[in-house]
Amino acid sequence: MRNFKLDYSKTLDFIRKEDIFGYESQVKEHIDALYNKTGRGNDFLGWLNLPSSITFNELKDIQDTANNLKEKCEVVVVIGIGGSYLGSKAVIDALSDNFSQLKERTSPLVVYAGQNIGEDYITELREVLANRQWGIVVISKSGTTTEPALAFRILKSDLEVRYGKAKAKDRIVAVTDAERGALRTLATQEGYKTYIIPDDVGGRFSVLTPVGLLPIAISGFDITDLVKGAVDMEKQTGPGVSFEENPAAIYAATRNALLNIGKGIEIMANYNPKLHYFAEWWKQLYGESEGKEGKGIFPAAVDFTSDLHSMGQYVQEGQRNLFETVISVASADSQVVLTDDDDNLDGLNYLTGKRVDEVNKMAELGTMLAHVDGGVPNIRIEISKLNEYNLGQLIYFYEIACAISGYILGVNPFDQPGVEAYKKNMFALLEKPGFEEETKAIKAKL
Ligand code: PA5
Repeated sequence: MRNFKLDYSKTLDFIRKEDIFGYESQVKEHIDALYNKTGRGNDFLGWLNLPSSITFNELKDIQDTANNLKEKCEVVVVIGIGGSYLGSKAVIDALSDNFSQLKERTSPLVVYAGQNIGEDYITELREVLANRQWGIVVISKSGTTTEPALAFRILKSDLEVRYGKAKAKDRIVAVTDAERGALRTLATQEGYKTYIIPDDVGGRFSVLTPVGLLPIAISGFDITDLVKGAVDMEKQTGPGVSFEENPAAIYAATRNALLNIGKGIEIMANYNPKLHYFAEWWKQLYGESEGKEGKGIFPAAVDFTSDLHSMGQYVQEGQRNLFETVISVASADSQVVLTDDDDNLDGLNYLTGKRVDEVNKMAELGTMLAHVDGGVPNIRIEISKLNEYNLGQLIYFYEIACAISGYILGVNPFDQPGVEAYKKNMFALLEKPGFEEETKAIKAKL
């Protein structure tokens, strides 16, 4: 494990080290249960050895498909929702220039659809696509999810009108189940290039399958390095590693020890705007995996320092049921050094010679100390810089820590029974065939 540090020392004003290490034997059992496939949800553990089992040929095939789309397209629309889009969005945003949309590009711009049902969103996207060379990667494990199916119906038709059915097919790649679902049927019938999402990998654990790797490769980032980082973290968190040396074990234990003292909300904080969507991915991973059976730590996220001027007040002085996990990036890629100003009307000459990143780091340190003083325990995760390798490490770290933490909580981290409730009501309200009884029942409530 390189370039990755976890520091829980700023939780020790609130819990004792023994409270964390008290989980040692339980965590060992949970890691063994994961590796021996004896715990809850054991038919969804394909992600566990995924990094070390990805082959060179698999990566090459994904890269070849990405290159093919890169040659043809200025824009690639990735259609998917939840685990079928957040992982790639998290990595692409973390690695992209903040203003890449306004700069000259060497790879297609990846944009998303089917992650909402906004009519204006799809209309505005279609307007943009009308003047660009474009293609589609449609991703749905079940192949039946309404939001991406709706977006795909509309955009597939646009693509066929633009390029003709035969040529459009070479601009569409489908990532879905090996056999089941409407998307698989459609892809087979239309002859699209397809990738399979393994049966035993759930959506929110699928970023290291073609679900995440293909869009990331299309964006021009190095999927081999991403996987390398994940492989190293897989080694560092496996059954042979001691509790103390295993960062995922320590993180899972620490957050549960904090929950035991009433800290039921975890806030992921970053000091780099490129990490906004990484926190969105993390929120899905932890929210959907742990929030069930009346249990779970509520995952929230803030972008600092921006949100210090909004949510900062609550974190400092609101209800004391929070703890904070900071993802800190040790060094920025670029350097901006502040220069002296003769008039010094803004009073900033005391910063002359300092880099903007030094100011950011002092904001980070000062905030951490203020929050700890204010009653908010702090876990700190540091990576050396934003690159593919470090993101691969982070992704696998959070995945295995989530599985361990879910087992500590006593839930099945790999199912999501609760997401069906809204779907049932929506289908009933839309009078979907087969939902006649539900339609009657829900209309009686209105
Ligand atoms: O983690 C999950 O399983 C979910 O968030 C799914 O990824 C999401 O509902 C999309 O499902 P699908 O890929 O089947 O369209």
